[in-house]
Amino acid sequence: MSKFKNVLITGASSGLGRALAIEFSKKSQNLFLCSRNFENLQETKNLCQNSNANIYLKILDVKDEIASQNYIDEIEKYFTLDLIIANAGVSGGTALGTESFSQIKEIFDTNLYGVLNIVQPAIEKMILRKNGQIAIISSLAGFVALPSSPAYSASKSAVRIYGESLRVNLAQFGIKVNVICPGYIKTPMTAVNNFYMPFLMNADKASQKIITGIEENRGRIIFPIIFYFIIRILLALPFFLIEKIMKKLPKKSALKKYLT
Ligand SMILES: NC(=O)c1ccc[n+]([C@@H]2O[C@H](COP(=O)([O-])OP(=O)(O)OC[C@H]3O[C@@H](n4cnc5c(N)ncnc54)[C@H](OP(=O)(O)O)[C@@H]3O)[C@@H](O)[C@H]2O)c1
Repeated sequence: MSKFKNVLITGASSGLGRALAIEFSKKSQNLFLCSRNFENLQETKNLCQNSNANIYLKILDVKDEIASQNYIDEIEKYFTLDLIIANAGVSGGTALGTESFSQIKEIFDTNLYGVLNIVQPAIEKMILRKNGQIAIISSLAGFVALPSSPAYSASKSAVRIYGESLRVNLAQFGIKVNVICPGYIKTPMTAVNNFYMPFLMNADKASQKIITGIEENRGRIIFPIIFYFIIRILLALPFFLIEKIMKKLPKKSALKKYLT
């Protein structure tokens, strides 16, 4: 049993969130899993076979500020959340030429405001009891201005900077914050990519790395580290050279709902 008794994971119906849920079901006492698709959440619960935890499922759209606040309030009536993993996210790119405004809004509303909607109400409660931990899933894409997915890389950059600032700011209240920046992980999100993904990692391995980083309370949990170093070297180049390299990157498909 880990020190995290009560754990909440957003976007637990698929991919990385599901892999994290399976691992935390072996370590926690009460596991709160949410996303928009109940059947897929139920499938995650079914996969938690070696679970010691009580698993509570909730249909939640993290874009909904009031519903997210109510969800946190409801849980906190009976439990104190030790760890929140703000994982829910969507990804879309410019394969149609450029991004539509509706796609850009969907990405920011989910990847940025969807994180804030969950994290902020929880922080208010954690401050009062001077305890708690928040893990925010950003991306290596949050370090680079990707022309193939401007809204996605900007949203991941925003939550990365937000999380890193919060970490220092909230330490005075005994709250720990971790920012997770993975490279490519094999999940439904990347299954649509029809290009080579360097250092592609499976979701189980990625979830192990994230859990170790959270348990060690690392500020930045970044992997694969070799991919990160390559990005740092790239970013050290003059911008006109970065632009030349960026022009050669493959296109990323748009969000499925905007393809028709
Ligand atoms: N895969 C990668 O290579 C990679 C790399 C770096 C970072 N990440 C990040 O890792 C996180 C998980 O991605 P993944 O690869 O596991 O993708 P995924 O398989 O598509 O899973 C995304 C999860 O987010 C949930 N979600 C999306 N919009 C939501 C909303 N409005 N409200 C509630 N839940 C919502 C989805 O559930 P429902 O559809 O049921 O709502 C699903 O459970 C994302 O933040 C992603 O940006 C992924």
